[in-house]
Amino acid sequence: MAISVTPLDPDDQAALDEAYRAAVAAQAVDEPDLPPLCRRRFEAPLQHPMPGIDTRWTVARLDGVLAGWSRLYLHTLDNTENAGVELVVHPAYRRRGVGRALHEHGLRLLREHGGKRMIASTVTPLPGEEGREMPGAAFAAAVGARPALADVRRRLDVTVLDRPRLATLLTEASAVAAGYRVVRWGDHTPQEYVADVAYLEGRLLVDAPLGDLQWEQEQVDADRIRGRERALDARGVRRYSAGAVHEASGRLVAWSMLSLDASSTWHAWQQITIVDPDHRGHRLGLLTKIENLEHALAHEPELRAIDTYNAAENAHMIAINEQLGFRPAAGSTDWQLTI
Ligand SMILES: CC(C)(COP(=O)(O)OP(=O)(O)OC[C@H]1O[C@@H](n2cnc3c(N)ncnc32)[C@H](O)[C@@H]1OP(=O)(O)O)[C@@H](O)C(=O)NCCC(=O)NCCS
Repeated sequence: MAISVTPLDPDDQAALDEAYRAAVAAQAVDEPDLPPLCRRRFEAPLQHPMPGIDTRWTVARLDGVLAGWSRLYLHTLDNTENAGVELVVHPAYRRRGVGRALHEHGLRLLREHGGKRMIASTVTPLPGEEGREMPGAAFAAAVGARPALADVRRRLDVTVLDRPRLATLLTEASAVAAGYRVVRWGDHTPQEYVADVAYLEGRLLVDAPLGDLQWEQEQVDADRIRGRERALDARGVRRYSAGAVHEASGRLVAWSMLSLDASSTWHAWQQITIVDPDHRGHRLGLLTKIENLEHALAHEPELRAIDTYNAAENAHMIAINEQLGFRPAAGSTDWQLTI
C-alpha cells in the first residue's frame, strides 16, 4: 500500500470534505461523548488564523484515498521553539503507518522552522479505565513523546444542576468578595477591560500547573486579544464572560469565560478562569464561574453539558469545579516530544 503525504491544498474542496469526515469519524470513536466537530471551526485556520500561529496542514493518502491529516501549529510571537500538533487517522485506515508518515512529515516541518518541541494531547484512561484501548496514547509513546502533564476533562450535567446549592455558594462567595463587583459581557471584551484581560490571559501559562511542559509566558496585549476575538468571530464561536472588578482600583482582576461552537446549542466549553495573584483568597474564581454559568444559561436555553480540562494537580480549580457539580468524563495527557 502506498502512502503519500502532501500539504493540504486550501482550494481543494473535496480534500477538505474528506479530511472533515475523517475527523468526525475519529472523534466518534475516540471521544464519543463530544458533539461532532464544528465544520466552521475545522476550516477556519485556512482563512482566519489565530494571531501568532502559523498552521501547516498536511493530508495523507493511502492508495489515493484520504486516510488522515495533521496540523502543525508553529508559534511565531512567543514559544517559537514549540509547535502544537493535531494528528488524526480515520478509524478505517489505522495501524497501516499513516499516523507515522504524517508524524515524520511534521518533524521535517518543525526542523525547517527551527523548532525543538512538539506538544499534543490524547485521551488517556481515567482510574478504572486502564483496560481500554487508547490509540492516541499508544501512538504518542511509540513515536517517543513523553507524558508531560496529566489532565482530566470534567463535565457539568446542566440538566441536574443543583440550583439551591449554587445560590448558597454564590451568596457565600459574594460575602467574602466585598469590595469587588461582577461584570458580564459577550463576544467582545469591553474596551475598558481589554488591557486587564490581556494581562490575565498572559498569566495563564505561568499560573496554571504545566507539569513538564516547556511553555513560556505568552506576550499578550490588547491587540492580540482583539485578534483572537476576530478569529473566534470568524469561527462563529459564541462567548460568555464574567469578571470581577476591584472597586478601589477599577481594575478587572478575575475573569471566567465559556464558549459554544457555531454548530452546537447543547454543549459548551468552560475556558479560562483566572484570578490575579494579588486578589486571590476572595472566592473570585468561584464567584465569576457561577455568575458566568448563569450568564450563559440566560442566553443558551438548550445548554445541557459543559466540559472543562484541568491539570490533574490543579487542586484549587478542581475543588471549585467539583463544588459546581463537574465530574470526571475522560482522562487526557499532554505529550511533549523534544527533537
Ligand atoms: C493515534 C493515531 C493518529 C494513530 O494513527 P495510525 O495511522 O493508526 O498510526 P500508525 O499505523 O502509524 O502507528 C504507529 C505506531 O503507533 C502505535 N499504535 C498506534 N495505534 C495503536 C493502538 N491502537 N494500540 C497500540 N499501539 C498503537 C504502534 O506502535 C504503531 O506501530 P505498529 O503498528 O507498527 O505497532 C490514530 O489512532 C488517531 O487518529 N487517533 C485519534 C487522534 C489522536 O489521538 N491523535 C494523536 C495525537 S498525538
